Amino acid sequence: MIDYVLRALWYMLPAYVANPSAVIFKGKIPMDLGRKFVDGRRLLGDGKTWRGFFGGILGGCLIGLIQNIIAYSFPNEIFPPFGRFGNSWTYLGLSMVVVMILSIGSMTGDAAGSFIKRRIGLERGEKGYLLDQWPFVVFSFLFAYVFFPNFFVHAFWNLPAFITIFILTPMLHRIVNILGYKLGRKEVPW
Ligand code: CTP
Ligand code: MG
Repeated sequence: MIDYVLRALWYMLPAYVANPSAVIFKGKIPMDLGRKFVDGRRLLGDGKTWRGFFGGILGGCLIGLIQNIIAYSFPNEIFPPFGRFGNSWTYLGLSMVVVMILSIGSMTGDAAGSFIKRRIGLERGEKGYLLDQWPFVVFSFLFAYVFFPNFFVHAFWNLPAFITIFILTPMLHRIVNILGYKLGRKEVPW
């Protein structure tokens, strides 16, 4: 069972790294270009910028590249590559596409979380509780499921992995944000 959980966490790393990477890259031009939704509130708000979005994807892809290089160099069951499970380097490209999809899913989910936060009247940067933490997981899963269903089933579709990820993610998120705050990268510790 522990190997299911470890493997799922391994495969979640790009999605996990993408989010704090966005904070490091943070930009100026908001993704919603300042536009408002029908409720008169911002679509996403100033906390979601294009630079952050793409910087986040880049961060996710970088960690994924390192992971794939490790996985192809030292073939093993628990920390496998993202694409084909053979140990052929010719699959690196495919593995990186999977990594990219997970990273894009993560940043899209992050924006979706902000969209919901704005709809329920939470200001940019206000504590969203699980809305800061679960949407990026859900969207990473969703993107993986849509584009690479076999990978999704192999990587995440088991109860121990599901439970661990949904419970562990808010804790990890909290720790990383307190760190970001102490290091002066974030204005608030959440
Ligand atoms: N950030 C960014 N672009 C993104 C995501 C994050 O520029 N796509 C930067 C912003 O500077 C943002 C910071 O990272 O303020 C922290 O991210 P997050 O906590 O996700 O955003 P919030 O400011 O809390 O905004 P929201 O309430 O919409 O979640
Ligand atoms: Mg926030």
